[in-house]
Amino acid sequence: MGRGQQMSIWDIERTVVSTPGTETRNIYSHRRLVVVAILTTFVPFVIASSYLYYTTPDASTEAMLFFQRLKEGKTTSSFVNATSQSNPQVEPKNGDSEISKDTNQAEVDRDSAEDVIVEDVDPKDVATLESKNPTFPGVNVSEPHLEGPEENITSILMEGHGLTNTTNSNNRVGCDLIKGSWVPDPRPPQYTNSSCRYIQGHQNCMKNGRPDTGFLHWKWQPEKCDLPRIDAQAFLNAMRNKSMTFAGDSIARNQFQSLLCLLSQVEVPDHTYNAPDDRDNVHVFRTYNFTIAIYWSPYLVHVEDKDITWPDNKTQSVAHIHVDKLDRAWTDRISGVDILQVSTGQWWFKRGLFLQGGQVLGGHICDGWKECEKEIGFADPYRTAIHHLLKDSLSIPGYTGTTILRTFAPDHFEGGAWDSGGRCKRTTPGGVPIGPLTNWMYEIQQEEFKNITGEASESEKQRIRLLDITNLAQIRADGHPDVYMKFQPFANEKKQLPQKDCLHWCLPGPIDTWNDLLVESLRDAVFGS
Ligand SMILES: *[C@@H]1O[C@H](CO)[C@@H](O)[C@H](O)[C@H]1NC(C)=O
Ligand SMILES: *[C@@H]1O[C@H](CO)[C@@H](O)[C@H](O)[C@H]1NC(C)=O
Ligand SMILES: *[C@@H]1O[C@H](CO)[C@@H](O)[C@H](O)[C@H]1NC(C)=O
Ligand SMILES: *[C@@H]1O[C@H](CO)[C@@H](O)[C@H](O)[C@H]1NC(C)=O
Ligand SMILES: *[C@@H]1O[C@H](CO)[C@@H](O)[C@H](O)[C@H]1NC(C)=O
Ligand SMILES: *[C@@H]1O[C@H](CO)[C@@H](O)[C@H](O)[C@H]1NC(C)=O
Ligand SMILES: *[C@@H]1O[C@H](CO)[C@@H](O)[C@H](O)[C@H]1NC(C)=O
Ligand SMILES: *[C@@H]1O[C@H](CO)[C@@H](O)[C@H](O)[C@H]1NC(C)=O
Ligand SMILES: *[C@@H]1O[C@H](CO)[C@@H](O)[C@H](O)[C@H]1NC(C)=O
Repeated sequence: MGRGQQMSIWDIERTVVSTPGTETRNIYSHRRLVVVAILTTFVPFVIASSYLYYTTPDASTEAMLFFQRLKEGKTTSSFVNATSQSNPQVEPKNGDSEISKDTNQAEVDRDSAEDVIVEDVDPKDVATLESKNPTFPGVNVSEPHLEGPEENITSILMEGHGLTNTTNSNNRVGCDLIKGSWVPDPRPPQYTNSSCRYIQGHQNCMKNGRPDTGFLHWKWQPEKCDLPRIDAQAFLNAMRNKSMTFAGDSIARNQFQSLLCLLSQVEVPDHTYNAPDDRDNVHVFRTYNFTIAIYWSPYLVHVEDKDITWPDNKTQSVAHIHVDKLDRAWTDRISGVDILQVSTGQWWFKRGLFLQGGQVLGGHICDGWKECEKEIGFADPYRTAIHHLLKDSLSIPGYTGTTILRTFAPDHFEGGAWDSGGRCKRTTPGGVPIGPLTNWMYEIQQEEFKNITGEASESEKQRIRLLDITNLAQIRADGHPDVYMKFQPFANEKKQLPQKDCLHWCLPGPIDTWNDLLVESLRDAVFGS
């Protein structure tokens, strides 16, 4: 089974969203499929969230120990049951088998996990659900506020914290674009659900009925300069006869769609290519002869999905990740491309086997499958992959453009995990401290970026940039769809509690700022000055 066939919530979207306006009905008629898809999509978050609430693992050994504890049920958080009851021998239920073969879910106790999601919960009982699953020990997140008096916004301006001084050298002289704060901005967003056709159903918060709009009225204010909004007309003019490509996962697509929304206010591009599985897309702005494309490559390196064998000889398909070999899904398609944005993150938290030079290094979440002789965690393999990504992108045949690595995008589940009442109900920026896992991924990216640019020639240095969004995204817990990933989630009280998305971002929303920052960080490459 190919990686492209790996089940995710986006496959579901593809299945059901083809007829606009019918997604709700269809989703319900595909209930089981959706449940499995949700499990697949959110399992990384379960693992990720669990990290966030424990001591920072600063080495892969600690990651290994963490997962060991998780497996043995020695950790105490409420979601441990969903994972520690993991039983590799659980037989997938009929009807699920085709999907489950390809996921980490074979080991999840389907009954209990499914119950959490599909039991009919009165939306009013969210609070009850949350109280059944209290916040995790040692965590001190402030209560999110869904209602209540208007905030005194001057008191909640959030400073971008931590890890500054890390931007690349191509920013405007003397201005660190990532050092700043979110400040109130009365301007309307640059597009709406009505003026942009590229907003995916799950991120269309306006259409889905999100009641608050305050989250649309903030701008990122660097300390020493302004970050201008993208000027779509100027950008398209500057990109005449040029091309830009994104490679990555569903968060990359989220940002890509934001950019399409911003640019399509000037001209609606031709959709010239749509891969059969909808994961690769090419759009051409005819007036400008500007091509913009996205290719699905969640790890950015080469991955083969191959069967692994459990002690009882049952098999499961698991990603075999070649950390030193870039994924041809995008490298084969960037000849002549001027700007390439790459990003990879959450997929590394899943079960996997890592290879370098064709030799097995070890695995992640081993739990006793035969091919995994050594648990090595994902941090070192991730580091190696980022290293190769940056270095090897300089010598991809035919590619002489500028590569920009978008840093790790944090999630914001609060008050629980994705399946235990975790929500993102905030309506204003702020509040959520950077989690150890986010910090960890972010530091790896920064360190490898420094390492590669530290050894690169002057001209090579110009070709590698960092789009550093981690800190500014960290303090926008208000920017996610939460339950508004579904259309009118509270319309029918008899329906189950809607699934929450606290990882992807509403469009329009703070992710639009990533594109402002993208253009600003590439100002010289785009505008030649
Ligand atoms: C895990 O499940 C068992 C039995 O199902 C229950 O007694 C225990 O409290 C659960 N643990 C947590 C942390 O929820
Ligand atoms: C949580 O925050 C409160 C109020 O800010 C503080 O008094 C308390 O000590 C904190 N608890 C922990 C475990 O940090
Ligand atoms: C808002 O907060 C700021 C800073 O804490 C304070 O100086 C100001 O008086 C507050 N304004 C109102 C209307 O409460
Ligand atoms: C960041 O930059 C400021 C001034 O540019 C400098 O004083 C400070 O030491 C730097 N911090 C780090 C961690 O490099
Ligand atoms: C956009 O969202 C509003 C609700 O905020 C809705 O009334 C309108 O029909 C939506 N338009 C489209 C084209 O989805
Ligand atoms: C774009 O390409 C066309 C055809 O090659 C050429 O005539 C035109 O001058 C180019 N425009 C720019 C701005 O490079
Ligand atoms: C469009 O741009 C490409 C380079 O990206 C160039 O080769 C081609 O000639 C241009 N076509 C037109 C019609 O300008
Ligand atoms: C698994 O297969 C091996 C070799 O085919 C066999 O020796 C072993 O008994 C099998 N184990 C189980 C639990 O069936
Ligand atoms: C980059 O990393 C390699 C391998 O860890 C190391 O030998 C080298 O000194 C580093 N270079 C810089 C500039 O940090």
